[in-house]
Amino acid sequence: MLKLNYKCADSSVVGESNGLDIQKEFDNYKDRIAEIITNLNGNKDKRGQGLQWMNLGYSEETVWYVKEYAALVENRFENILVLGIGGSALGGLAVTEALLKPYWNLLSSEQRNNFPRIFFLDNIDPDGIVGLLDVLDLSKTLVNVITKSGSTAETMSQFMIIKDRLEKELGDDYRKNIVATTDKNIGVLRQIAEQEGYKTFVVPDDVGGRFSVFSAVGLLPFALVGLDIDEIVRGVKDMDLALKNTDIHENIAAQNALIHYLLDTQKGKKISVMMPYSSRLKYVSDWYVQLWAESLGKEKNLDGEYVNNGPTPIKAVGATDQHSQIQLYNEGPNDKIINFIRVEEFDTNLEIPKIFEYTGIGYLGGKTINDLINAEADATRVTLADYNKPTVTISIPKINGYYVAQLLYMLEVQTAIAGALYNINAFDQPGVEQAKNYTYALMGRVGYEESAHILHEKMVAV
Ligand code: PA5
Repeated sequence: MLKLNYKCADSSVVGESNGLDIQKEFDNYKDRIAEIITNLNGNKDKRGQGLQWMNLGYSEETVWYVKEYAALVENRFENILVLGIGGSALGGLAVTEALLKPYWNLLSSEQRNNFPRIFFLDNIDPDGIVGLLDVLDLSKTLVNVITKSGSTAETMSQFMIIKDRLEKELGDDYRKNIVATTDKNIGVLRQIAEQEGYKTFVVPDDVGGRFSVFSAVGLLPFALVGLDIDEIVRGVKDMDLALKNTDIHENIAAQNALIHYLLDTQKGKKISVMMPYSSRLKYVSDWYVQLWAESLGKEKNLDGEYVNNGPTPIKAVGATDQHSQIQLYNEGPNDKIINFIRVEEFDTNLEIPKIFEYTGIGYLGGKTINDLINAEADATRVTLADYNKPTVTISIPKINGYYVAQLLYMLEVQTAIAGALYNINAFDQPGVEQAKNYTYALMGRVGYEESAHILHEKMVAV
């Protein structure tokens, strides 16, 4: 299992103004935490609670359908192109970057065991879209368009461009190159998919985008590139079982949620940096940033009071960002908690040759890059502690489907518990919806005329 080391967030290490008496706080909050976990467990099957993501470790039916389709299309496509944004893309990016062989898209088909390359188009930069379409042979590309709402302008505009090109190139056969993942009943994409006869998968009810990685949103692309989705789902399930424990002393998601919450509300640590010491986990930082920001950044609390809540998440990657951000974290304002992720065992052991022994770098020879990256993680943690800057370290035994799934699921539960501690709704995103509605209005969507009018007046003013 994953481990959480929170010693460097304790006041005995970083001082009382920057750290917590953690064992005392665990005791103070043990009843509140037990109540929160009991509520999460008790409500996860109830409709309208936004908690269906807690059931994704048990969705055998989805796994079965995903595997069936992946087997059907195996060897038929050279590329998978995922169209999606935010929660419809970041989980997929995080997991594929972590689990596929590094530089997957540059490997030969043989090196990929004949599984396809995978591309995520999660922005609407025209140059970026055209650039990608210039290098992809669309006739050999399976397009997985993912949008829960079925109407997000970024995703649907990309889809319209690509569908049009596919149809021009392949005629009626173009449908075989499209698979849509969306709501089971509502939304424009569902309507189009039914009219046009696309293969579809479902984003389950009550699963928000940023909590959807273990639904078909993630599982389908994972299976299409040959990842073992049984192993991934097993990781989710085992972590779910572990996190059902209502005792804060045994529940790492609750521990990290409470530490973050108290450091924010009592010690002014309003920024949460996610810094895995692994390039393969770099998109886990991006994914975490969305999860933490969209879930906890809320104008009102559950009692309807204006609170403008929200710790600010920042992405980083070790050791790279030691040479860009750590100067600030060491010597700048003491307003952060830094989450290190430490990989205990890498897939490869890379030795540094014993050369240049007569120079100042001779000490590196005979060691491994593995020793070096973890030494750097330790050195950075200790340096931050010297500066009285709080950190926590999540240790992951290996980067495989089982543990990466555990990591992501643990962070989801941590977010849900933090939401309850802050007394906000962690599962909606009215601020995102507002910007989406303004975009629809600006682009002339029917039904948004009133918003367009208001918006044009405001745009003159600002
Ligand atoms: O987490 C969320 O809910 C958002 O980030 C959405 O995933 C994002 O806005 C995309 O929405 P949709 O899947 O409806 O296209």
